[in-house]
Amino acid sequence: MTTKVSAALLCAAALLLVVAPLAAEASELKLGYYKKTCPGWKNVVKYHVAKAIRANRGSGAALVRLIFHDCFVRGCDASVLLDPTPANPHTEKTAPINIGLAAFEVIDDIKAALEERCPGTVSCSDIVVFAARDASSILSNGHVHFDPPAGRLDGPISRAADAQRDLPDSTFTIGELIRNFRRKNFTVEELVILSGAHAIGVGHCSSFRGRLSSPPSQIVPAYRNLLSAKCAAGPDPVVTNNVRDEDPSAVAAAFPSFLKKLRKNKDFLDNSYYHNNLARIVTFNSDWQLLTEKEALGHVKEYAENGTLWDEDFSDALVKLSKLPMPPHSKGEIRKHCRFLNHH
Ligand code: HEM
Repeated sequence: MTTKVSAALLCAAALLLVVAPLAAEASELKLGYYKKTCPGWKNVVKYHVAKAIRANRGSGAALVRLIFHDCFVRGCDASVLLDPTPANPHTEKTAPINIGLAAFEVIDDIKAALEERCPGTVSCSDIVVFAARDASSILSNGHVHFDPPAGRLDGPISRAADAQRDLPDSTFTIGELIRNFRRKNFTVEELVILSGAHAIGVGHCSSFRGRLSSPPSQIVPAYRNLLSAKCAAGPDPVVTNNVRDEDPSAVAAAFPSFLKKLRKNKDFLDNSYYHNNLARIVTFNSDWQLLTEKEALGHVKEYAENGTLWDEDFSDALVKLSKLPMPPHSKGEIRKHCRFLNHH
């Protein structure tokens, strides 16, 4: 009997050891969280983000989208990074709403460098947040800048169905968008502020197909023609989100009056989204919808007029986004590899 009891105790102790790394509950986020345990970690993140953006500015836009798609689903816990496995074939990144999500390899490179420097210390979720911070700073020439706290843990749960439920769809009406943001405790103003991220990056034609037959009151016909021409080029090509970054030949053919407004500096993160929106030259239905409600429209006008205010408010909204917690009593770990759980 006694041997049975001690054997059971031994088993329980062994089990505890195995699950111990998963037993941590998220603690308070702090500025300077890794100051002693991984000094210089932020420079490692910044170095890799800058390198990725130099090679391809589109990776910067992808990193800015990644923080939103991670933090809106189960909080900022890097659940969006988990690859599907036979045990969990439908992770968040397989959800249709996550179409086009990219820059996972940038996160991998940062994680590998940090594992070499201070093994098992910096979470993937902190890397997602700081990579988005550096990307938005670089793409805005330093106008968007903020210092988020760190100390997030990586969550073990990643379900495509959660992403489908929690992330807004580009076909949403203004009412659906407002409710979606309110569920995460974000205001109408913050919905408008964060939507300004669509000044950069790309979208698949399938994400705005309905706009190709929207009336002129919703989208400028010349711009609609431009999008139609681009979307005819393949089964589901990507098109630049910001008309100012379009290639001049396409604009010359479909929308010549806009030629003089094209910008040299592509994927520049500024308030141009609001100007485009008021002029009805944005891609997604969800963008246009912001003009259909009084308060949202007021903010679109406000940010079109005041780019500096948007830089500041966008920075604040990203800090708020970065603080979205995992569901209560969730356990987390510091993953060794951002695409897989440690016990994988
Ligand atoms: C308000 C509700 C939002 C909706 C409905 C929405 C929808 C979309 C869609 C459909 C795409 C294109 C995906 C594709 O077809 O490949 C996209 C791209 C993008 N979104 Fe949003 N989005 C929203 C809010 C946000 C927020 C809050 C951020 C960040 C703060 C953001 C940042 C981006 C960026 C940067 C891209 C371009 C990504 C790239 O080029 O890789 N979006 N969004």
